[in-house]
Amino acid sequence: MSRVLSPHPKDPTRMSEPTDTSGIAGYWDRYAAGIAEETREEALKDAFGWCQYAGHGPGNELLGDPLTTLELGFGRGNAVAALATKGIEATGIDVSPLQCEHAIARWGHLTGAHFVQAEATAYLNDATRQWDAIYSIWGALWFTDPDVLLPLVHERLIPGGRLVFSHAPPVPGAYGVQGMYADGFRGRQVWVYRWAYEPEGWAALLRKHGYTGIEARVEPAPQPDLLGTLIATAHRPR
Ligand SMILES: C[S@@+](CC[C@H](N)C(=O)[O-])C[C@H]1O[C@@H](n2cnc3c(N)ncnc32)[C@H](O)[C@@H]1O
Repeated sequence: MSRVLSPHPKDPTRMSEPTDTSGIAGYWDRYAAGIAEETREEALKDAFGWCQYAGHGPGNELLGDPLTTLELGFGRGNAVAALATKGIEATGIDVSPLQCEHAIARWGHLTGAHFVQAEATAYLNDATRQWDAIYSIWGALWFTDPDVLLPLVHERLIPGGRLVFSHAPPVPGAYGVQGMYADGFRGRQVWVYRWAYEPEGWAALLRKHGYTGIEARVEPAPQPDLLGTLIATAHRPR
C-alpha cells in the first residue's frame, strides 16, 4: 500500500497531518506477537503500574476510587484484569486484534473485565456513555494526536472524573509529533506516530482542553541513571 501526502496548507516544509490510522493495527499485532507469555499469577502480580519497572512507582490509587474505568491501549489486559478483581467495572480498548484475542482468552472469565478491539479516537467518538476514570499506560494516549484525543476523553469522563496516563519522558529538545516507520525501511509505507512533551507541555495541553487539577511530572527510575516515567493526572471539572 503506498500513500500520497499533500503539502501542509500553511507550511510547505511540512506535509499532511498525521491523522491516518489505517496501518497501525498490523504494527501493534507484530508488537503483540513479540510479548513473552506469563502465567496468570505472574501477570496479576504488579499488574497495575505506570512505570516500566515492575513494582516501582504509584499504582491504581492515582485513579481515585472509580466504579467504572476505561483503558486506552490495554496491551496484555493485565491492568484491566487487576481492576476487575477489585470489583471495578473495567473496560479496555486496543487497536490490535491479537492483543484483544489474547486478553479475552486470558481474562475474559473475570466478571467486570471487558475488552474491545477498537482504535481509541473511533471508539470515543462512537461512545455514548461516560466513565469515572479513563487511563492509558504507555498506551493509545501516547500514540494519538492530543488535540484530537484530549477533547474526546474529556467528553467521556463524568464531571469530576479523572484522566491518568504515563509514557516515556521526551528526548530533550524533540517535542511534538514523532514518526516511526512501522514496517521497517524495506517494508510497506506504514507510519506510527507518537507525541512527546515535557510535563509542562502536557499541563498546557490539558489546560487548553478544559482539564483542571492537573499534575504532570517525571517519576524517577529506581536508579538515578535510568530513564524515569512521565505521569500525568487531570480532571474534568465538576
Ligand atoms: C506500548 S503498548 C502498552 C500496552 C500496555 N498498556 C502496557 O502497559 O503494557 C501500546 C498499546 O497501545 C495500543 N494502541 C496504540 N495506538 C492505539 C490506538 N490509536 N488505539 C487503540 N490502541 C492503541 C497498542 O496496540 C498497544 O497494545
